[in-house]
Amino acid sequence: MKKFDVITFGSASEDIFITSKDFFQRNLCFPVGEKIEIDKILIKTGGGGTNAATTFSLQGFNTAYCGCIGNDYAGFLVLTDLKRFKIATNLVAVEEKRTTNLSVILSEKEKGRVILVYRDSSRYLPQNFDLEKLKSSWYYLAPLSGEFAKNTLKIIKFAKKNKTRVAINPSKEQIAILRNKIERWINLIDVLIVNKSEAKLLFGRHRSEKSLLKKLKREIRGYLIITKGKEGSIVFDGRNIFQAGIVNTKVKDRTGAGDAYGAGFVAGLIKTNDPISAIQLATANSAACLKQWGAKEGLLRENQKFSKVKITINDKL
Ligand SMILES: Nc1ncnc2c1ncn2[C@@H]1O[C@H](COP(=O)(O)OP(=O)(O)OP(=O)(O)O)[C@@H](O)[C@H]1O
Ligand SMILES: [Mg+2]
Repeated sequence: MKKFDVITFGSASEDIFITSKDFFQRNLCFPVGEKIEIDKILIKTGGGGTNAATTFSLQGFNTAYCGCIGNDYAGFLVLTDLKRFKIATNLVAVEEKRTTNLSVILSEKEKGRVILVYRDSSRYLPQNFDLEKLKSSWYYLAPLSGEFAKNTLKIIKFAKKNKTRVAINPSKEQIAILRNKIERWINLIDVLIVNKSEAKLLFGRHRSEKSLLKKLKREIRGYLIITKGKEGSIVFDGRNIFQAGIVNTKVKDRTGAGDAYGAGFVAGLIKTNDPISAIQLATANSAACLKQWGAKEGLLRENQKFSKVKITINDKL
């Protein structure tokens, strides 16, 4: 069985973007029987697992996505996009009894968005799921749900036994499973990516970022990343705190920023083994994603030029 550079896990979905000038003026209240004119509709594919795979493939890595889709139009779109981005599809299971995930994103310029999420196929392990067949230098675990979430520890432990490096951006469901046994897995992780609210759920509330990092100093073996939206991100390697701002950009759509950052960081790390270059690629990749509708459009290609963000390093905890 061929060995990949990266196998990604996580959801695959069809994302339908609907924009209107007055969604929020109406408080998203639609009187029964009325026809609502909308300004624009766009159909893209999304889902953390396939979004992350797109970054890895565009950055030149031999990439496979492992997950389930249904035998339906949304699943067909997902497969078409995986092929468009040259991501291997032999680990994708088309399950007759399942429906491909689908999100409807109702957004109004600058005001924000509401996402209606339907999760089905991504909650299930492929029927022929066999970790022995998933040979890769890296596993990237985008947020997982259902059966997949329940298997998080098993996947991580298998990876470590087989010298596969692991990056994980856990979902709230995974955090609920993992938070009470942190010492059993955190030192097996090479890159752990959470946003601010996920950090609170996983590690509990702390007086400050520094006090949290001080507590984790001995447990972190790889990198802990906390992304903070417009405020940028911090990366901790157990000793140094790297602090980065953002690449200023006109945001069209927020979907996929977290996936673009996480996968961008890991791609940069594989290439250079340098956290500073990894943060720069991650930050620029997420900004590039925000500039366009859809979570896979605009992502940076290998050797594409990008603006580098300033990074400060603090080693005094
Ligand atoms: N408005 C913005 N302009 C430029 N860059 C941004 C902006 N918002 C976020 N980013 C970049 O994207 C990274 C990830 O964003 P964020 O912290 O919102 O992730 P998230 O909460 O996981 O998002 P997601 O909803 O995609 O999971 C940030 O650390 C930052 O580098
Ligand atoms: Mg996220």
